[in-house]
Amino acid sequence: MQTLAVFYFSGTGNTRYIAQLLCEKLASRYKAELYDVAEAGDLTNAIKKCDLALVAFPIYGSAPPIPMRKFVHRYAGLWKGKRVAIAETQYFFSGDGAATIGRTLKKYGADIVGAEHFNMPNNLADCKAFPIKNGGELKKAVARAEKRADAFARRILRGKKKKRGFSLPSHAVGYLCQRKFWWKCEAEKRNKLKINAARCVGCGKCVKQCPVQNLVKKDGKAAPLGGCVLCYRCVNLCPMKAITLVGSEPPREQYRGIPKQ
Ligand SMILES: Cc1cc2nc3c(=O)[nH]c(=O)nc-3n(C[C@H](O)[C@H](O)[C@H](O)COP(=O)(O)O)c2cc1C
Repeated sequence: MQTLAVFYFSGTGNTRYIAQLLCEKLASRYKAELYDVAEAGDLTNAIKKCDLALVAFPIYGSAPPIPMRKFVHRYAGLWKGKRVAIAETQYFFSGDGAATIGRTLKKYGADIVGAEHFNMPNNLADCKAFPIKNGGELKKAVARAEKRADAFARRILRGKKKKRGFSLPSHAVGYLCQRKFWWKCEAEKRNKLKINAARCVGCGKCVKQCPVQNLVKKDGKAAPLGGCVLCYRCVNLCPMKAITLVGSEPPREQYRGIPKQ
């Protein structure tokens, strides 16, 4: 049995769900170990000893999340010759989502054995333009992604190196339609998490669940520190709908994530 190390970041569970699904589908050959890159400590040994690494992350404005970028750069010296598969999750479009991290890994010498995009439910709950799907509609979207996961895993097992998002047109579209503008938005919003003090009841749920410890309790209310990674976990979790980030109004509906089986 070979070892599969899954390195993932997931704000609201979609990417973790796909990562776990891929582990099951690759189980005939690989024994999997999962690592949340925002929470795990030193991952040197995990990278060194694995036969295959799966890197999984959600896309934000056709760019990978900050914790995933930091993870790939931090272990720059370990990717040389490493077999890496990439799974990127998105609501509907990224252009070259998987390749954003794939290009960096390649630069560090990784052998990219496959890359795929998985359309999953939207979690950007405070933007009216992108509706939130929970319940039955969510199930349909996830079912399509599950089929894609099945095909992706089969390709990896057969050694077929199809790499979604790696073509020049995908690169151009990802950059010109989104990433070019995204960097400014990301930099601006990092310290613009808005917590409505009148709504916040100080339950501490967001403080406990923030993957990068960007929230603290101050005078009985939640308060951001300025290092938000835009994952939307707190926006979707807050029982009082008190948190807003990219949008200007609190979410009408929050993304509840994929129900546990
Ligand atoms: C700040 C932010 C930006 C996003 N940008 C995009 C995007 O450019 N294209 C897209 O299709 N989905 C976008 N999404 C949707 C997420 O990528 C998608 O819902 C993803 O599956 C969430 O994964 P997670 O539950 O593992 O965090 C964005 C979500 C957030 C929070």
